[in-house]
Amino acid sequence: MRKVAIIGIGMTKFGNLWDRDLVSLSVEAGMKACHDANISQEEVEALYGGTMSGGLFVNQEHVAALLGDFSGLKNIPCTRVEAACASGGLALRQAYIDVASGMHDIVVAGGVEKMTDIGGAAVTKTLATAASQEWEAVYGATFPGLYAMVAKLHMHKYGTTEKQLAMCAVKNHKNAVYNPFAQFRREISVQDVLNSQKVADPLNLLDCSPITDGAASVILASEKKAKKLCKKPIWILGSGHAIDTISLHDREDITTLKATVEAAKQAYKQAKLSPKDIDCVEVHDCFTIAELCAVEDLGFCKKGESGKFIESGHTQIGGSIPVNTSGGLKAKGHPIGASGIAQVIEAVLQLRGEAKGRQVDAKIAMTHNVGGTGGTAVVHILGR
Ligand code: COA
Repeated sequence: MRKVAIIGIGMTKFGNLWDRDLVSLSVEAGMKACHDANISQEEVEALYGGTMSGGLFVNQEHVAALLGDFSGLKNIPCTRVEAACASGGLALRQAYIDVASGMHDIVVAGGVEKMTDIGGAAVTKTLATAASQEWEAVYGATFPGLYAMVAKLHMHKYGTTEKQLAMCAVKNHKNAVYNPFAQFRREISVQDVLNSQKVADPLNLLDCSPITDGAASVILASEKKAKKLCKKPIWILGSGHAIDTISLHDREDITTLKATVEAAKQAYKQAKLSPKDIDCVEVHDCFTIAELCAVEDLGFCKKGESGKFIESGHTQIGGSIPVNTSGGLKAKGHPIGASGIAQVIEAVLQLRGEAKGRQVDAKIAMTHNVGGTGGTAVVHILGR
């Protein structure tokens, strides 16, 4: 396999972007990434685009060809990638495999979702299409409800508290203040989280990622092209991808996302690194409990100890493993298909030393993107 680098990044603002559509968001992110890589779109040889549900959110399918067309990518292969909330991370992995295999030299991996054109109930129903229809959604299970069950069991088994869950949201909102692309750039307190509207016990509104519009793109290049085109290429050192049962009830222990454990194992092995080598990580915090599970499943603390780990400040900027310096899905926003790519953009910014106001000393960064309640997980390790 050839070495692969990320040579360009671009994203839109995340938020309730009522005056924008799927196409214009994608084109903006793609053009910014080409500009950052100092290439024209004619030099792109293939596109992998992550999006969960163009059909249900905005009545638009056949998205890859559409976005390729409007981006001026004439007659090149454009492929849509769908893995629920892990669509973006998986698009990156497919683009990585493409370049690593020698098939193409310059490839764009992007992600987009336009979620706010339909009402909240319709969004919840659309998101629930990523759960098992026969075993979960049909009984009224929604993602807040499913993750609430994970949180309840984590609290029961390990003594995790609602305050410890809230601390994740507080940290991520604090980090997002310094991210100009984030949906919520305001600090909140633990009390704000605990007092916010109950969504699914024990999760409150401020434990949840929001409904978001947005797009993100990165340009991947082979080693030869990267060295020619880019002063600060960021190398993909490891890539892992695994699945697990879609339904929670089929798992031995719903507080462990085996797909995450397995994807991380693959990425660590390929990169020849271990958790202690990672300087910062963007984890999939669609709900605060998901961030707790992630720091355990990725190996940053022991099983069951994430509550105390977070409480003692390890995951803050300046801590032993800063988590979600971008603001995470919680505060940066979670436009489903774009989230996995936006995580990679934060990792690249940290590694380039361009994460203004939230910079950590990073040589190695990790990204972790989950579909559903862990039916899919994708993990990447990046380095300077
Ligand atoms: N975090 C912070 N603030 C939020 C928020 C969130 N997650 N969601 C909404 N808000 C704010 C809004 O900006 C708005 O503020 P304003 O009154 O100052 O304008 C207020 O809260 C009410 O917003 P509204 O859109 O009416 O909230 P809602 O009750 O319809 O939706 C949730 C809130 C939590 C139910 C919704 O964001 C949600 O479903 N999130 C989970 C998404 C999800 O499941 N993703 C997939 C994960 S697997």
